[in-house]
Amino acid sequence: MYSNLPPSQCARADDRPLVFGHRGARGHAPENTLLGVETAIRLGADWVEVDVQLNAGNPVLMHDLTLERTTNGHGFVADVAPDYLAGLDAGRGQKVPGVLDTIELIDHRAGLNLELKAAGSAGVIVRDIRHAVQVLGWDWSEFLVSSFNLQELRQVSALEPRIPIGALYAGVPLDYAASAEALGAISVHLSHEFLAPNMIEDARARGLAVYVYTVNHPVEIERVRALGVDGIFTDYPERVLVLDRVA
Ligand code: G3P
Ligand code: MG
Repeated sequence: MYSNLPPSQCARADDRPLVFGHRGARGHAPENTLLGVETAIRLGADWVEVDVQLNAGNPVLMHDLTLERTTNGHGFVADVAPDYLAGLDAGRGQKVPGVLDTIELIDHRAGLNLELKAAGSAGVIVRDIRHAVQVLGWDWSEFLVSSFNLQELRQVSALEPRIPIGALYAGVPLDYAASAEALGAISVHLSHEFLAPNMIEDARARGLAVYVYTVNHPVEIERVRALGVDGIFTDYPERVLVLDRVA
């Protein structure tokens, strides 16, 4: 179902929102693992969202700053030795993948939304995306780099303006859409808890796609679909898609 167009152009192309597998497919597989990414694709996700931390300066898939919640390791992901990280179990025998491992696994079957969690990651993310485009044949539009840290996104754009960026908001700043527009983002990523029609209108008027996170309950999925969002982050991609399959 993935269309090789920028998200702002292919959003709702099939009269449904784009489906972003959240942390892979967190409802079915360990988060931020290759098994989770593969599961999201097999469930029909258009995009896969993963969180990115730095380990010894290199980007790896991890939500938290520390290893305890999602692996059998201890300490800060940024500080442990790469060999130590490589030996950890991230659930069901999965390893903590690097960003390039993830790009190779996806192999154009879905878009890749890299959510930057760590300050100072712009340079290495640009490096890996450039590699994917220049060596592996990916298109810039198959990537979407997002972050709550808008300053990090500004650095990504300064280094490589061809990488699409999406501005993440935890709350709703008064100028959320204007600041995303000023940043040159293609999308705003908003919490479903706060979503209201005027927020969608504000973003749309500025040419921004509206993606909402993290929507898992079928009733809530229906509510945000009815509001007309362009994309939904979910731990259960099939819950967004099932309605279209039976229609
Ligand atoms: O990118 C959307 C969503 O993943 C943001 O929140 O905490 O799940 O990374 P979080
Ligand atoms: Mg995330």
